[in-house]
Amino acid sequence: MNQFGNALNACTSNETKILLTAACRAALTAGAIIKELYEKPHTIRMKGNIDLVTEADVAAETAIIASLQEDAPGIAFMAEESFIENSDPGSDRTWVIDPLDGTTNFAHGIPIFAVSIALVVNKKPKLGVIYCPMQDELFVTSQGGGAWLNNRKISVTDTDFLVQALVATGFPYDIHKHLPRIIEQTRAVLPKVRDIRRCGAAAVDLAYVACGRFDGFWEMDLKPWDTAAGCLLVKEAGGKVSDFLGKEYTPFEKEILASNGHLHTLLIDLIA
Ligand code: IPD
Ligand code: CA
Ligand code: CA
Repeated sequence: MNQFGNALNACTSNETKILLTAACRAALTAGAIIKELYEKPHTIRMKGNIDLVTEADVAAETAIIASLQEDAPGIAFMAEESFIENSDPGSDRTWVIDPLDGTTNFAHGIPIFAVSIALVVNKKPKLGVIYCPMQDELFVTSQGGGAWLNNRKISVTDTDFLVQALVATGFPYDIHKHLPRIIEQTRAVLPKVRDIRRCGAAAVDLAYVACGRFDGFWEMDLKPWDTAAGCLLVKEAGGKVSDFLGKEYTPFEKEILASNGHLHTLLIDLIA
């Protein structure tokens, strides 16, 4: 049995099964490329002051697009490294791709990063895959088909109390614009919870909420490719995803709060 057979069997249609298989194959292929490049010297280009692109981001994206085009032709792409500003996925089926989420970790030799691929229709994710190559962890989901990690069904925690909660957050590349708010949120959350983690990869943060390693996660100014697969994964694992005010989340919103559901309102009270 492969790493995603049970997730495929849980799909609600044959078409979803075919597309999810394509997404898994593309993520595993890209993950193998990234893992291979991890130990080697990197070629780094700056997209902004602190925003990096490595040879692995580009190689992984090229491989994902080629693999999806072969297995599921005729679907549009929104991929981070070849993204054209202001392009809108509209209502068409679109693959939303982060070829390497956690580039800064990758570049600094920290083995926490992932490939994230989602199929989005009408701005809503229908299926998603997050693959962490260094841990060989494949998170797979489809709408109505549950959330899976290496063929095991996963679910969020049932923690009711903030004091027992391990929560995660992240900082956007344009941190200077958001610093006062981020400090305010951290000041509010830190004394109330067991601890806060900053993994450096939003897709991993969401996958960890889905499988119960974290009880919640929030971040502002993420891009659709950071959260498209992860937000569906959390929902299918029984969690809740919204903006900071509790409004329904799509990957095109600016703010995300994901939680086990039980802690959602308590977290909104602290970060809104
Ligand atoms: C970044 C990571 C990070 C988050 C940043 C993202 P990248 O994505 O997800 O955890 O804090 O906001 O942009 O650049 O590594 O793909
Ligand atoms: Ca990312
Ligand atoms: Ca990326």
